[in-house]
Amino acid sequence: MSALIEAQGLQKTFRARGRLVHAVNDVSLAVAPGEALGIVGESGCGKTTTARMLLRLEDPSAGRILFDGADITSLRGAALRPFRARAQLVFQNPFDALNPRFTIRRSLAEPLRNFGIPEAEHAARIDAVLNRVRLTPPEAWLDRRPHELSGGQLQRVVLARALIPGPSLIVADEPVSMLDVSVRAGILNLLREARDALGLAAIYISHDLALIRYVCERTLVMYLGRVVEEGPTTELIANPAHPYTRALVAAVPVPRVEQDRAALPIRGALSDAPPTGIGCAFRDRCPHAFARCADETPVARSLGGGRAVACHLGEAA
Ligand SMILES: Nc1ncnc2c1ncn2[C@@H]1O[C@H](COP(=O)(O)OP(=O)(O)O)[C@@H](O)[C@H]1O
Ligand SMILES: [Mg+2]
Repeated sequence: MSALIEAQGLQKTFRARGRLVHAVNDVSLAVAPGEALGIVGESGCGKTTTARMLLRLEDPSAGRILFDGADITSLRGAALRPFRARAQLVFQNPFDALNPRFTIRRSLAEPLRNFGIPEAEHAARIDAVLNRVRLTPPEAWLDRRPHELSGGQLQRVVLARALIPGPSLIVADEPVSMLDVSVRAGILNLLREARDALGLAAIYISHDLALIRYVCERTLVMYLGRVVEEGPTTELIANPAHPYTRALVAAVPVPRVEQDRAALPIRGALSDAPPTGIGCAFRDRCPHAFARCADETPVARSLGGGRAVACHLGEAA
């Protein structure tokens, strides 16, 4: 597989109130053209920071990012513009993603102008993208402003704005978490249809494994800045290898996106985790932890079939 986007050993350290926070700790991933990768884990595990580094909105503390085989890790300013058109973010909160004073037409024309698309093409492209997100007929929506739209309609505009430059990759960070439960599936289906029609790769980020299961072929599970397990979504859910993945799976009793999530069946919270350092970061919450888990940080090992896990359980001693 030749990857559309690839990250190698990404790290991000923040200094917050004099303390170092290892938000992302050695994350590597690759997404093929047209593929959908899910990143799942509790709030605070480093998903958004990973997404922001992949999109070059945040500088990594260490590691490399390759897009279409080219190293984009240290590109800045105008040199990033071609990448910006090809890798687009779908914002989490449609209620503040759009300028409240702009009409829909202007919100959609802005990226076209930024990416140097000739003015003469704007109307046709705006029309096409509004049809794609089912805000039809487009004339009925062009002159409206955000306050005249519902959350679901706003998120369609946000999606349209991400699609309009003609990207190859969409990164959707909690794309429906701010929306009413009743409209979530509609937005996810639209995203999937757009991806299929345009051959787009996607990275979906969510705390919700049910959502990831609905839209992603492959999934990566994060815990406290690290990837603890990855693999094809169906197998990872049917037969989770990491105790943390098992807990996430157990919290998704019914395969329905609309369902409200039960609490995680593990004790404690991310904030109770041992400070980042030696050992498995999950050990204080893990029902199977043994001596080695405190002494040695588990490294990812292959389970075959595209699966990998970072856990001492089942390892050769
Ligand atoms: N700009 C920042 N400054 C300091 N700490 C941050 C910053 N952004 C994120 N963090 C911290 O990094 C960790 C990961 O955050 P984030 O990537 O937002 O996680 P997630 O998206 O999985 O909820 C958290 O502990 C968070 O508080
Ligand atoms: Mg986040």
